[in-house]
Amino acid sequence: MAVGRPEIQALLDGYSVPPVVVAVGSHSAIDIADGAVSEGFRTLILAQRGRELTYARYNRAERDADGTLRRGCVDDVWTYPHFADLAAPKEQERMRAANGLLVPNRALSSYVPLDVIEQQLRVPLVGSRRMLRIEERSERENYYTLLEAAGVPTPARVSTPEEIDGLSIVKLPHAVKKLERGFFTVASREEYDRKSAQLLRQGTITSQDLASARLERYILGPVFNFNFFFSPLVPRTQGLELLGVDERRESSLDGLVRLPAAQQLELGDAARVPEYTVVGHGTLTVRESILEDVYRLGERFVDAAASKYPPGIVGPFCLQTCIDRDGKPTVFDVAARIGGGTNIHLGVGHPYGNALWRTPMSSGRRIAVEIRRALAEDRLKEIVT
Ligand SMILES: Nc1ncnc2c1ncn2[C@@H]1O[C@H](COP(=O)(O)OP(=O)(O)O)[C@@H](O)[C@H]1O
Ligand SMILES: [Mg+2]
Repeated sequence: MAVGRPEIQALLDGYSVPPVVVAVGSHSAIDIADGAVSEGFRTLILAQRGRELTYARYNRAERDADGTLRRGCVDDVWTYPHFADLAAPKEQERMRAANGLLVPNRALSSYVPLDVIEQQLRVPLVGSRRMLRIEERSERENYYTLLEAAGVPTPARVSTPEEIDGLSIVKLPHAVKKLERGFFTVASREEYDRKSAQLLRQGTITSQDLASARLERYILGPVFNFNFFFSPLVPRTQGLELLGVDERRESSLDGLVRLPAAQQLELGDAARVPEYTVVGHGTLTVRESILEDVYRLGERFVDAAASKYPPGIVGPFCLQTCIDRDGKPTVFDVAARIGGGTNIHLGVGHPYGNALWRTPMSSGRRIAVEIRRALAEDRLKEIVT
């Protein structure tokens, strides 16, 4: 049985102020922690042993006796043999005793099973607990079904390899690097057969994953990941904010496109098929005449989420798009939580977020501002699930 929202809200009655901002130590944790300390909160990072130094040493907070921050942004680090151990009942108890508000990121939903997050994790999440699952393409109800219901353009689905008619992308997990992608592009049935056979032979993908892969049209155009924020604390017309736009650096794809064609052709077969492992992010702005369309997509997504998964989006979310030659954004992926590229504006904010807030506004800081506002208005229960 899912942990009910009233049960989570009731936990807050036992909290003292100020709460501590908690994040799982990977993905966007530095942004979350940096934003939280900027707004005067203390921070706690939940790390996996062997992966804790970024937080425990290199970004550790140093404070004066009166609490004034001198350096860094991570006040405490708790380490576990495995990330999933953070959800043990005793650890949850410890987090609640520390007045922890957990900001869900992809590290949480990748490393702690979704069933556990939904049914056992009795810690307030500042975000949308129910919507973490829509990212799983293998679910019957996922982000595609939500976007379609919202009237947001998505890449046309190609039902079977026989129907491939133009450049398409096959989306499935990597066979070995389980959290990574085994994606490949194909323009014909013949190319599908040839490439899939090659990737199967190489051990990059499995036939089981291939059978349930999502096949869709490839949108030819650059990637823009729109990092939005939605506040349920203000009138609906003021709720949606665009904070920043990022793009990914993907390996080996970005390495390949930096080679001249002649050199690409000298590569062996295996090296010629790009992999899509995210290794970094860059910052972007978007042509101004496209912006209004982008806001419209954000609004539709917020409305659809509220009706399908109440209370809907609470806080940050990310629409990942390709923009085609007609300037039309198509959403190929969604994060119903803080996106993976928000470290681009960590510490300095982003042109859009700063323009709106008149001060450096990152996603992490925006989350902390929301917590601060909810506390001031005694409405913390409205931003947790
Ligand atoms: N329909 C598409 N058209 C063009 N590129 C795509 C499409 N879908 C995915 N991609 C590319 O693949 C990358 C990863 O896709 P995404 O759906 O975000 O996977 P994940 O859920 O693993 O993050 C994107 O950053 C983009 O470069
Ligand atoms: Mg994605």
